[in-house]
Amino acid sequence: MEKENWPITPPWRGRRLRRTEALRELVAETRLSPQGLIYPLFVVEGKRQKQEISSMPGIYRLSPDLLPQEIEEVAALDIHAVLLFGLPEVKDEKGSQAYHPRGVTQQAIRAIKKSHPDMVVACDVCLCEYTSHGHCGVVANGKVDNDSTLELLAQTALSQVQAGADVVAPSAMMDGQVATIREKLDEAGFTSTPIMAYAAKYASAFYGPFREAAASAPQFGDRRSYQMDPANAREALHELEQDVAEGADIIMVKPALAYLDIVSQARSMFSLPLAAYNVSGEYAMVKAAARLGWIDEKRAILEIITSIKRAGADIIISYHAKEVARWLKE
Ligand code: PBG
Repeated sequence: MEKENWPITPPWRGRRLRRTEALRELVAETRLSPQGLIYPLFVVEGKRQKQEISSMPGIYRLSPDLLPQEIEEVAALDIHAVLLFGLPEVKDEKGSQAYHPRGVTQQAIRAIKKSHPDMVVACDVCLCEYTSHGHCGVVANGKVDNDSTLELLAQTALSQVQAGADVVAPSAMMDGQVATIREKLDEAGFTSTPIMAYAAKYASAFYGPFREAAASAPQFGDRRSYQMDPANAREALHELEQDVAEGADIIMVKPALAYLDIVSQARSMFSLPLAAYNVSGEYAMVKAAARLGWIDEKRAILEIITSIKRAGADIIISYHAKEVARWLKE
């Protein structure tokens, strides 16, 4: 380059709007708010139970009696929705505690709705936390049987709604689960209860800590015959399309971070509200690195949640929800 042309005058200077915090905030394209977060809760039977999950520091299994206090804290942070996972004392082949009227999840729903009627209570609808073999459906001849599982999932959803749940979230990845649940709820008169469908749910290593939390690791085999292959993107869009056609009200992509391309494509293809699940393994990685002093925890978490929002998620389900909401208030 000729000496007289050096240095050049850049035609545009991106740095002009990065100069101060106020300018950066003025042009921020993505803003987080606690109202778009859902906080997952693990519920165990018993009284005064608060058991920390070792691979998920800061996350506890709570008994129903401790929920009103927990929900008070969540609500004070302006988080208006929780997602419940029930962990029954007794598991059996058919996961019967999932649809028992006095099951642990049903008790939890009642406890929350009694103390905090305005809190949105969403419930995971799956059998894996409730089955002795840890699979998400009924096992017949060593295989997870799709069609005989559907009725049990529908019964589970119905019993949760009867206990007061505001949203049901089927996560078993059985074909036809959304339509079956919709029909069951409608027949029972619950035409106004929305379904948040775990529509594109991948067979992911990032569910590891959740399975410790829920003691729901499959006792044989794995979930690859029903959850999706991480290699596939078009198939995820097809799954989403199917769930929309079956009557889903909110569609979900799970996990979030390794699947932000799916979140982004889903956002551009569908008009329904889109949720992304920032799963247990994603949480555990951040917590582990932070404990070792290897990353700046707060900045890493806010960057992760922002990235999920930027990719197109309207709703973010995250174990970080409370800490994020706290930071947003600072
Ligand atoms: C139930 C279910 C799982 C998760 C949500 N619902 C576990 C699984 O499919 O193995 C994972 C959530 C997380 O990892 O945070 N099927």
